[in-house]
Amino acid sequence: MVRGVASKVNRAYNFPMKLFLDTANVDHVTEIASWGVLDGVTTNPSLVAKEGKDFKETVLKMCALVPCVSAQVTATDAEGMQKQAVEYSKWHKHVVVKVPMTVEGLKALRFCKEKGIKTNCTLVFSLPQAMLAAKAGASIISPFVGRIDDAGGDGMQLIAEIMEAWEHYQFSTEVLVASTRKPEHIERAARIGAHIATIPYEVFKKLPLHPLTDTGLKKFMDDWTKTKG
Ligand code: G3P
Repeated sequence: MVRGVASKVNRAYNFPMKLFLDTANVDHVTEIASWGVLDGVTTNPSLVAKEGKDFKETVLKMCALVPCVSAQVTATDAEGMQKQAVEYSKWHKHVVVKVPMTVEGLKALRFCKEKGIKTNCTLVFSLPQAMLAAKAGASIISPFVGRIDDAGGDGMQLIAEIMEAWEHYQFSTEVLVASTRKPEHIERAARIGAHIATIPYEVFKKLPLHPLTDTGLKKFMDDWTKTKG
């Protein structure tokens, strides 16, 4: 949990599974943060490239809106990742440094743990990878469920296996369900007890919707209008 959050920053910790937005679009973060349910943002180099905006500026704008913003290193060697991690962590206290799940990444995670830098280990596709990242001291690990589904597997099954292992050993590393593609991924994440789900904007917008809510509200309004007649 990130502490010392400025009062204007949205806090939405009542329901235990945290909801993050997976984006580098500041307008989208502003919109969803206004709902009062957003706990953080995850970005990655592909999302940043898609927006075509300055990376640091984007991260800082997001840090003013939510208490946890993952910013990914672009170096691939441990020394380079460590250097970027130190730099990013100085930008804002809400920054969480995202590090890829490689052997070099493990070294960088250990370095960050020792320096007190919060980390999110990305591109996790197996239980052994999840365990190694947690042992190396990652604050968060990000298994990519959608990409596992795309490859013909069952991404949520991996989340269930990781949560089962976590229960035995009480790792403090949070499990973030990443690469979500549909509301069902979020539902299953909550039922399994994952700590965080990061959600693309288009999927987040679907979460409040239900056709019976629309028809129910229409009937309430129609009936109310009749009382005025
Ligand atoms: O959070 C990771 C995410 O950005 C990857 O999503 O849809 O590119 O697999 P996707």
